[in-house]
Amino acid sequence: MRLNTIIHGDCLEELKKFPEACADLIFADPPYNLQLKSELYRPNNTKVEGVDEAWDKFASFADYDAFCAAWLGECRRVLKDTGTIWVIGSYHNIFRIGAVMLDLGYWILNDVVWRKTNPMPNFLGTRFTNATETLLWCARGEHCRKYVFNHKLMKRYNGGKQMTSVWDMALCTGAERIKGADGKKAHSAQKPEELLKRVILSSSNRGGLVLDPFFGSGTTGAVAVRLGRNFIGIEREEEYIKIAQKRLEGLGPLFSEAGWAQDKDQRRTRVPFEQLLKEKLVRSGDLLYTPGRYNKTAVVLGDGKLLYGENTGSIHHIGALIQGSPSCNGWRFWHTRENGAHLPLCELRNEYLRRRGL
Ligand SMILES: C[S@@+](CC[C@H](N)C(=O)[O-])C[C@H]1O[C@@H](n2cnc3c(N)ncnc32)[C@H](O)[C@@H]1O
Repeated sequence: MRLNTIIHGDCLEELKKFPEACADLIFADPPYNLQLKSELYRPNNTKVEGVDEAWDKFASFADYDAFCAAWLGECRRVLKDTGTIWVIGSYHNIFRIGAVMLDLGYWILNDVVWRKTNPMPNFLGTRFTNATETLLWCARGEHCRKYVFNHKLMKRYNGGKQMTSVWDMALCTGAERIKGADGKKAHSAQKPEELLKRVILSSSNRGGLVLDPFFGSGTTGAVAVRLGRNFIGIEREEEYIKIAQKRLEGLGPLFSEAGWAQDKDQRRTRVPFEQLLKEKLVRSGDLLYTPGRYNKTAVVLGDGKLLYGENTGSIHHIGALIQGSPSCNGWRFWHTRENGAHLPLCELRNEYLRRRGL
């Protein structure tokens, strides 16, 4: 088995060639079988770039279930008893996948909910905005009790508190989103690196093998390498393999596991907001928003302060003023707006840190 490589092929066939019990961790982001029937347009008539590729389409639920039973069965064979598998999906497929996994003998450890901080609105106004995806985290079976879970590391990462099974995180946007020459998304389903960081750090160790049977743009490989793990990816479409290879060739420096796992907020508040201006991640005159309950706007000034009515102050100070509370984490309170979606400032701070390889 060659490590740190992408296998071009159908995972149903390719997984059969793997030896038993070789993978320390599997992350699977399979087709969701979204069953999109027609194109979706925003109120301003621009087309939503959704997942409408052939690889996401199945003739029936029965076909989809049979496909999932086949690849999940092979995954169970190649997973070590100390290993675990994560499968991500939405309401379209995750219940079917959960049933298939239980039938195959997997043992569910958590259903982690990824709550999107910048979900795509429901343009037609016919339903609630769909703002979550679910990750099923499973051991090979009920008997596999010695699976890897880096509880202390995750607790440190979460500022000393146990991490819960609800993860707030933005969709993959901005500089992290890989674009083609036409400026459009290179892969319609690229996942945020932060999601993979949590998955890989919580449930694998350095030097371990992380397997991804639906590699896409290579998010799993990119994060695994930067965390000192090995990866093997399987992908059927050649165009995505090229994108992933390019991504892996241009990887930034390794993440420092110890640094990353420090109290993230303490470490990150040391980035002064004005650094984001210097990096042109925000500009003087930009509006910042507080979506939801408070629904206010403020203007970014050239010195990194905010102007709110007649008040000027830091993002934290003005946030606290609006909430009528003694303090406020301005990084989470304030949002920018991109393509009609809100993005919390902490995501821009992540981008700033990422550019510096931190
Ligand atoms: C949801 S996307 C994965 C996106 C990926 N996690 C990322 O961050 O870019 C699913 C991927 O699986 C691939 N795929 C679909 N069916 C496959 C199969 N039977 N074998 C291998 N790859 C497959 C698709 O081409 C697509 O790139």
